[in-house]
Amino acid sequence: MNKKVLITGGAGYIGSHAAVTFLEAGYDVVILDNFSNGSADTVRRVEDISKRGLRLIEGDIRDKSCLHQIFSENEVYAVLHFAGLKSVAESVSDPLRYYENNVAGTVFLCEAMEEANVRRLVFSSSATVYGDPVENPVSERCLTGKLSSPYGRSKSMVEEVLQDIAAAKPAWHIAILRYFNPAGAHPSGLIGESPNGPPNNLIPYISQVAAGWRDVLRVFGDDYPTPDGTGVRDYIHVQDLAEGHLSALEAINKRAGLHIWNLGTGRGYSVLEVIRAFEIASGRSINFEIERRRLGDVAECWADPTKAQMELNWKANRSLTEMMTDAWRWQKNSLPSA
Ligand code: NAD
Ligand code: WQD
Repeated sequence: MNKKVLITGGAGYIGSHAAVTFLEAGYDVVILDNFSNGSADTVRRVEDISKRGLRLIEGDIRDKSCLHQIFSENEVYAVLHFAGLKSVAESVSDPLRYYENNVAGTVFLCEAMEEANVRRLVFSSSATVYGDPVENPVSERCLTGKLSSPYGRSKSMVEEVLQDIAAAKPAWHIAILRYFNPAGAHPSGLIGESPNGPPNNLIPYISQVAAGWRDVLRVFGDDYPTPDGTGVRDYIHVQDLAEGHLSALEAINKRAGLHIWNLGTGRGYSVLEVIRAFEIASGRSINFEIERRRLGDVAECWADPTKAQMELNWKANRSLTEMMTDAWRWQKNSLPSA
C-alpha cells in the first residue's frame, strides 16, 4: 500500500507543486485547503499532470472536527504543512488574522496529529526568519534576526512551537524548511503562482508587466550596498523546492527530532539581473522605474544550502533562466484576476 501524505494548503502555489512531486513519487495524497488563496481547479490540474487521483477536502486547519475526521478516515503517514497567509504588507495591517491563521492554526494541526499518532511533519518556514542577515550566505546557524513584520514573526513563533514539541515528545519527526525566494512554475504551464490583485513579489509583478496587465515595474531602491545597487535575493525554482520536501520527508523518517534546512540555491541575483533574465526568456522588454526603498526590505539575503545538500542529498538544479521561462509560460496561460 502507498504511504499517504496530508498536504495542507495543497491548492496553493508551492503545495500544488509538492502534490505533483509526491504523487509522481508514489505517495497517495490528501489535500486540505480552505481556498482562501487556492482553488479546486488547481487541484484538478495536479491530477492531470501526475495522471493520478487524490482526495481534496475543502476545510480549515483551525477546524478541529474537520482535522479529527481527516485523521480518522485516512491513515496519514506524514503532514506537509503549507497552509498559511503570506502577505507581509497585509500582516502589518491585520496582525491578529496572521497570528490566528498561521500560529493558532498550526497549533490545532499539531494537536490533531498528536491525538491521531501522526508525528511526521514538514513545515513551510521562510528565510524571512533571518531578518536582516548578519552575513551572507546565510546558514541555519545564523541567528534569527529582528523581524520587521507579523508575517515573519508568525513563522518564527511556529518554529518555536515546533522546537518545544520536539523537546517534549521524542517520537516526533519534524522538518523546518526555510525557503528563500520561490519562483517559476511547473513546466507544463498548468500550475503556477496566481496572486490576488497586484503582486507583492518581484517575479509575478515582472510577469504581469511583460503580459501588459500592468504598465510599469517599480524597482524598490538602487542605492543598496550591492554590485548594481538593487536588492539581491536567492530565487529558487518551485520544482526544486517541491523536490526538497520529498528529500526532507525521507530524511526525517530515518531521524527523529527537529531538523532545520535552508532551501535555496546558494546564488544571489539582483533585481536588475532578474529583469534582464526575464526579458531574454520572454522576448519582451520590461518597463521599469527606480523608486525609493520598500520599508522592511533588506539589501541582500541568499542561502548557504550546504546542510541540505549534505543531509538531504538534495540540490537546487534549475537555473534563473528556467525559472523565468517557466514563469512566463504560466503567465501566458493565465487570465487577469484584478
Ligand atoms: P499560497 O497562498 O499560494 O498557498 C497557501 C494555501 O493555503 C492556499 O491555497 C490557501 O487557500 C491555503 N490556506 C491558507 N490558510 C488556510 C487555512 N487556515 N486552512 C486551510 N487552508 C489554508 O502560498 P504559497 O506561496 O504556496 O506558500 C505556501 C507556504 O509557504 C506558506 O506557509 C508560506 O508562508 C510559505 N512560504 C512562502 C513563500 C513564498 O514566497 N511563496 C516563501 C517562504 C515561505
Ligand atoms: C525581491 C526583491 C524587492 C517587488 C518576500 C517575503 C518573504 C518571502 C518571499 C514568504 C527585493 C524587489 C519586489 C517589486 C521590486 N515570502 N522588488 N519591485 O521581499 O525578498 O521576500 O517574499 O515567506 O517573507 O518578504 O521578495 O519578491 O517581494 O522582492 O523592486 O515590485 O525585489 O525590493 O529586493 P522578498 P520580493
